[in-house]
Amino acid sequence: MTTYRIARIPGDGIGLEVTPAACAVLEAVGRRHGLAFAYDDYDWSCERYQATGAMMPADGLDQVRNHDALLLGAVGSPGVPDHVSLWGLLIPIRRTFRQYVNLRPIKVFEGVESPVRRAVAGEVDLVVVRENVEGEYSEIGGRINRGFPDEMAVQESVFTRAGVTRLVDYAFALAERRTGYVTSATKSNGIVHTMPYWDELVTEVAAGHPDVRWDAEHIDALCAKLVLDPGRFDVIVASNLFGDILSDLAAAVAGSIGMAPAANLNPERDFPSLFEPVHGSAPDIAGRGIANPIGAIWTAAMMLDHLGHPEAATEITDTIAHTLAKTSLRTADLGGSATTTEFTKAVIDRLPR
Ligand code: NAI
Ligand code: MG
Repeated sequence: MTTYRIARIPGDGIGLEVTPAACAVLEAVGRRHGLAFAYDDYDWSCERYQATGAMMPADGLDQVRNHDALLLGAVGSPGVPDHVSLWGLLIPIRRTFRQYVNLRPIKVFEGVESPVRRAVAGEVDLVVVRENVEGEYSEIGGRINRGFPDEMAVQESVFTRAGVTRLVDYAFALAERRTGYVTSATKSNGIVHTMPYWDELVTEVAAGHPDVRWDAEHIDALCAKLVLDPGRFDVIVASNLFGDILSDLAAAVAGSIGMAPAANLNPERDFPSLFEPVHGSAPDIAGRGIANPIGAIWTAAMMLDHLGHPEAATEITDTIAHTLAKTSLRTADLGGSATTTEFTKAVIDRLPR
């Protein structure tokens, strides 16, 4: 039996509902594969912020630095500004642990109706590879002349050779293991310094992967194409902001943002990686037990894959697909009336024995 030490951070809202679902599936799959999970639980959240003034304790990152992985639900609360919850928890984790790859796979499953006519099961199967530690989400900038008519805000984007190259290289290597096609999201017509530099670096990296076909698309046109012809994409590599936007868009194309998983990876494994669904805390449905657990469960599968158990991970994703194809159980976001618990149980019941 191999035991993994996991730092578990359910967070706020539906994070508290989908994280137990993911852990129940992990336990069931682990049993068959000789894997056990020892959780240390952390209450880092907006609730904690409202009680103590901080999303996590000052030494929080040191508390989780030696875990095998971090599993997070979602953070965010209407009572706390979103930049506080993001910069007080998720962004420090991503940056301190050099999780520079944010991997966001999207699939249209059989039995799930996409709002997009041409998004057909079996054809739409893509991964957004989002830059996760620099780019447009930068701390450099500030506000001056507060409260005066000439008040202004400046925010500098940061694109480094090292940061872009390692990310793009990861995306091209991933494409080599998939269908060998990369789309680079750019905006080098309008953003005149950083985006032409991004294009240059992508061209350099691409030269080292001669078997991978690739295109560059401006982000605006790419958004339209993702809706009009989602089946043509395989790996999409994008900056922090563009990747963030594209992954919600792609998740909606697949039927619901509640189904989209994400892995924040430190590929060198010098630090733990962080696994969290793409969706947020969904305050509009929180507390009702109706959140779609698929994003969180698929996220747990990505964690297993990262920990070196791809067969166990595939069992989870195959069983999600099977449950959607063979039953009419759906949570409300997919037009059904199943609860989080009912859907999770259906997945666990269908796992291979
Ligand atoms: P959101 O993802 O929480 O919700 C957007 C819409 O999708 C809502 O209508 C929600 O009900 C629905 N939805 C999301 N996940 C669902 C699920 N699993 N099942 C069924 N329906 C689901 O995004 P929103 O509303 O922009 O943000 C809410 C809060 O979450 C904010 O405080 C925001 O900052 C935070 N947030 C946190 C993230 C994180 O922890 N990684 C990511 C995105 C937002
Ligand atoms: Mg987002």
